[in-house]
Amino acid sequence: FHLDIDATETDKGAYPFYMLKEIDEQPVVIRHLISRYLPKDGQPQIGEGIVKDMRAADRIYIVAAGTSYHAGLVGARLFERWSGIPTEVHVSSEFAYEQPLLSEKPFFIFLSQSGETADSREVLQNINAQGFKSLTLTNVEKSTLWREATYALPLIAGPEIAVASTKAYVAQITVEAILAYALADREQLDVDLEQELSKIAIAIQGIIDDKEQIQAVAEEMLVPAHHAFYIGRGVDSAVVLEAALKLKEISYVQTEGFAAGELKHGTLALIEEDTPVIAMMTQPRLAGLVRGNLAETQARGAKTYTIVTQAVAKPEDDLVLPDINELLTPLVSVVPTQLLAYYTSLGRGLDVDHPRNLAKSVTVQ
Ligand code: G6P
Repeated sequence: FHLDIDATETDKGAYPFYMLKEIDEQPVVIRHLISRYLPKDGQPQIGEGIVKDMRAADRIYIVAAGTSYHAGLVGARLFERWSGIPTEVHVSSEFAYEQPLLSEKPFFIFLSQSGETADSREVLQNINAQGFKSLTLTNVEKSTLWREATYALPLIAGPEIAVASTKAYVAQITVEAILAYALADREQLDVDLEQELSKIAIAIQGIIDDKEQIQAVAEEMLVPAHHAFYIGRGVDSAVVLEAALKLKEISYVQTEGFAAGELKHGTLALIEEDTPVIAMMTQPRLAGLVRGNLAETQARGAKTYTIVTQAVAKPEDDLVLPDINELLTPLVSVVPTQLLAYYTSLGRGLDVDHPRNLAKSVTVQ
């Protein structure tokens, strides 16, 4: 298995836009993270101080903005379910000015592609002043959040240039998984993370190799749309937030992503003939419920598309992903949504890498 993509390269080469290049680099990014953090027999190597301080904590607080916040929503599930440490996720611009009541021994994780987001920095300064320990996961070594935290680990995803973040999200979740794994009782857990991540890299490659299929869906369903909805439950309810953000920020199609069970509490009123509704169903115990929610939208004329795993797949499903560890499925299921956003923006003739009014790194509060 060979790929000649170099994730450290800043030239977009034959790619029309950086975003497509960065989506394509994701399998390589995961492989780099495996060799960096799981080098010997799949045993995590992340530094003793980090493991010791996180083990001593009674609660983890993940603080981030934008796509990094969405990566935190996935990571929190990994920390709770694999390591047994209660974990909260906060938007940095809120935490900075309304600090919640903290536990006795908090540990902070800052997620930031750029390491420069002003709101996140404000929180880090506040918690430093209170004497709490922290870890920054960032793609930019020596950045402000890197320097000011107690610990820092690099995402080694290579430069991310498109404003819409893709490979940094995947790298953040991967490193969160490695951290949660390092803290877990690995015999009890019965997960071979190195093996799972290798499977994931192959699964992502499979989606990328078949991207024309997703382009056709984007052109038919989303390019002409005025608004669109993503729904999911459990860990998918976190992924659909990222899916919706990606689509809206580069295609300008107003998109909402939310927990499928919430449809009936308001959003169903917006479903009309041909409204696009994309359902993500990756977990057998929740798929039936989401199918029921999706049927409600179909009854009102919605045009639907389903992203499922093999374990839940039915003949009528549209995109079937291979089965992988439930909490790690976001690493794979996000990829078709990145491609849907990319091809919708492209199909609308927009500048995919530079959406209007947005910046790659937000250094104002
Ligand atoms: C901006 C970028 C997003 C990013 C967010 C947080 O809005 O356009 O892609 O998710 O900032 O940035 P950070 O660098 O802290 O991850």
